[in-house]
Amino acid sequence: MCGIIGILSDYPVGDYLIEGLKRLEYRGYDSAGIAVLQDHKIQVLRTVGAVNKLEQSYAASPFVGNVGIAHTRWATHGGVSEKNAHPHLSCKGDVAVIHNGIIQNYSELRQRLQNNGHIFRSDTDTEVAAHLLEDELGSGKSLLQAAIAIAKELRGEYALVFMLKDFPDKMIAIRKSSPLLIGVGQNENIVSSDALAFLDKTNRAIFLEDESIAIIGKKDIEVYTFSGQRRKLHAIELAAEFSLPDKESYEHFTIKEIHEQPEVIAKVLEQEPGSFTLFRKEIERAKRIFIVAAGSSFHASLLGRSYLSEYAGIYSDVVLASEYKSVAKWFDDDCLILCVSQSGETMDVIEAAKTAKQNGATVISIVNRSPSTLEKTSDAVVRLNIGAEVGVAATKSFTAQAFLFYAVAKGNMQAHDAVELKGAMTEVLRHEAMIAKLSDIISRSKDVYYLGRGLNYAIALEGALKLKELAYMHAEGLAAGELKHGPLALIEKGTPLFLINPEDDTYEETLSNGVEVKSRGGMLIGLSTKPSVHYDFFVRLPEVRREFYPIVESIPLQLLAYYSAKVLNKDVDRPRNLAKSVTVK
Ligand code: F6R
Repeated sequence: MCGIIGILSDYPVGDYLIEGLKRLEYRGYDSAGIAVLQDHKIQVLRTVGAVNKLEQSYAASPFVGNVGIAHTRWATHGGVSEKNAHPHLSCKGDVAVIHNGIIQNYSELRQRLQNNGHIFRSDTDTEVAAHLLEDELGSGKSLLQAAIAIAKELRGEYALVFMLKDFPDKMIAIRKSSPLLIGVGQNENIVSSDALAFLDKTNRAIFLEDESIAIIGKKDIEVYTFSGQRRKLHAIELAAEFSLPDKESYEHFTIKEIHEQPEVIAKVLEQEPGSFTLFRKEIERAKRIFIVAAGSSFHASLLGRSYLSEYAGIYSDVVLASEYKSVAKWFDDDCLILCVSQSGETMDVIEAAKTAKQNGATVISIVNRSPSTLEKTSDAVVRLNIGAEVGVAATKSFTAQAFLFYAVAKGNMQAHDAVELKGAMTEVLRHEAMIAKLSDIISRSKDVYYLGRGLNYAIALEGALKLKELAYMHAEGLAAGELKHGPLALIEKGTPLFLINPEDDTYEETLSNGVEVKSRGGMLIGLSTKPSVHYDFFVRLPEVRREFYPIVESIPLQLLAYYSAKVLNKDVDRPRNLAKSVTVK
């Protein structure tokens, strides 16, 4: 998490850095900061809150300088405060640093540096890097030698960018695991966590390989390995999927992305025949398949497992990315690991992919953002092709992942499947006004439950996750049959429970579970193709083939979370404490 940007230019860079930060805000937004080299001094401004707070303060007294760095933070070490916002300075103020990642051995380094007289001004892990570089340069090392020394000292994963008072025409960038790339401009170079930060200036980019050090000037870039070997540079032209997203007439990206689903679902089928065939072949070849993912991608993977089982007759296991180590001993050459990640940057998924590769397993990733660290770590990649998802809550990527799994399980890419889904998605979106009203009632509740069986269970989990992250409400998704094994004790008079219950093979049993809740005073909201006297509220689902119900059901639940968040006045596109790319463990 955290967004970082640094630029060396012929022109003043302050405003540009702030604009760049706005595009990186999806990576974290609890505080932000900027440092510019002005009149041989590093000037720093930091504020708590989103980038617009920094923008306002900066506008009141801007810096003038052609070299600068900036950062938008998602706090790991050290609370959310101005002193912990980046950039951080060394004691003498000669080195400024921004960082994305975690420096695991920072406590011992900090202790050692303090013993040697360094004064720390923040509680972050990052600050050690500024002090270390000050020492290394102070001992007469070149920029490269100093950077190599630091890379040897630091443990963990990090993308670091240093600005130096005494080397005004250079920056140092060091990458280990966390993403970092350089936009190659005309007489200016920009280093950032994401190309979105510099796309309006250049679409030529160098993706730094893992364990790289870059010494960046305005017109020159040198990249080295951690042992000082010069790396060959490959600048690539970035594709259209990097274009800057626009909210159009929508109030938020999240609602725009919810509405985009009927249109973009067919894009999932726009696969290169080769990659799709390989995917299928690997699924059939592998003796064991593990699907590894986090959050909403994990929920889509649960559906994926059911699709693979039902339509391809293939057994697979779904593993939470953060728990992959519990099954890693099974990763071997007979094994296929399917890594599912919208961003392709989720650290736990990447680590699982790396371990799988080391153990000889084949890794295929399903991503949306591209290029990404995950796909570079994989043997093959399948893309969702649905355009940027900006809202922090996954919406269109969830339905697209599920549909992709379905197509792979079926073994063919049928355009009419997408047409059928598009029609049903469009129809269910017509309930928007009704769901907005329902959100008024739901958002007053203390706890909300979601119940589903079979394929619909994954949607119970996903519906609850959406409400938690967007409206900050306590919500739980349950397998319908589990209700009486404990959670039923939580049902009180008026407790809302969403019964996800299309007329499929689970209909009767799930309805009975709903009635059990109703009998105990719960408020029952049925999502179904068929009304029931037991429902206090009814959201009619369009009739589609059984396997598509989960994909369609997820949409009213996305709308519910969105409108509940609005009623409660939450920041819908940027829920507190979260970030779109989870690049730390
Ligand atoms: C939920 C959400 C997160 C992500 C999770 C994985 O709405 O957005 O739970 O699904 O962080 O992210 P990716 O798919 O990028 O690996």
